[in-house]
Amino acid sequence: MPSDTNPDGDMFGGWIVSQMDLAAYIHVRNLTPERLVTVAIDNLSFQKPVFVGDCLTCYAVIEKIGRTSLTIKITAMVERKISREVELVTEGSFVFVAIGEDRKPVPLPRFQ
Ligand SMILES: CC(C)(COP(=O)(O)OP(=O)(O)OC[C@H]1O[C@@H](n2cnc3c(N)ncnc32)[C@H](O)[C@@H]1OP(=O)(O)O)[C@@H](O)C(=O)NCCC(=O)NCCS
Repeated sequence: MPSDTNPDGDMFGGWIVSQMDLAAYIHVRNLTPERLVTVAIDNLSFQKPVFVGDCLTCYAVIEKIGRTSLTIKITAMVERKISREVELVTEGSFVFVAIGEDRKPVPLPRFQ
């Protein structure tokens, strides 16, 4: 939407990253009863611009499960409004940490 653009009229990178962060969170939120917070975003690259009217879709894959952390790779694709062409626009790995009520990291459940 036009409200999500930067001053030059392209989609604001922060808005795109926000959608990717949400997608990563939704992908793993049911893996632990604890709260999950984003601690890092690695290897973020904006490869092509996103324009008003494009349809953004985020694909999530778990890259790594640590003791208290989960790393999820997000690939963001768009379908262009007029041409309907589908293109990869942004990639990045989002690291979440499970935290307890004291806000300190807590171990994830053991996954078989
Ligand atoms: C998340 C937080 C509790 C982690 O505290 P911390 O003292 O760094 O924790 P630790 O050093 O014990 O690391 C915990 C895990 O996070 C991982 N981690 C910490 N910093 C990292 C970074 N920059 N990149 C990748 N992984 C990282 C560690 O490798 C460890 O993983 P593991 O247990 O699976 O091996 C703390 O950094 C914090 O509260 N950050 C703010 C979170 C926030 O507000 N996010 C935005 C809104 S959701």
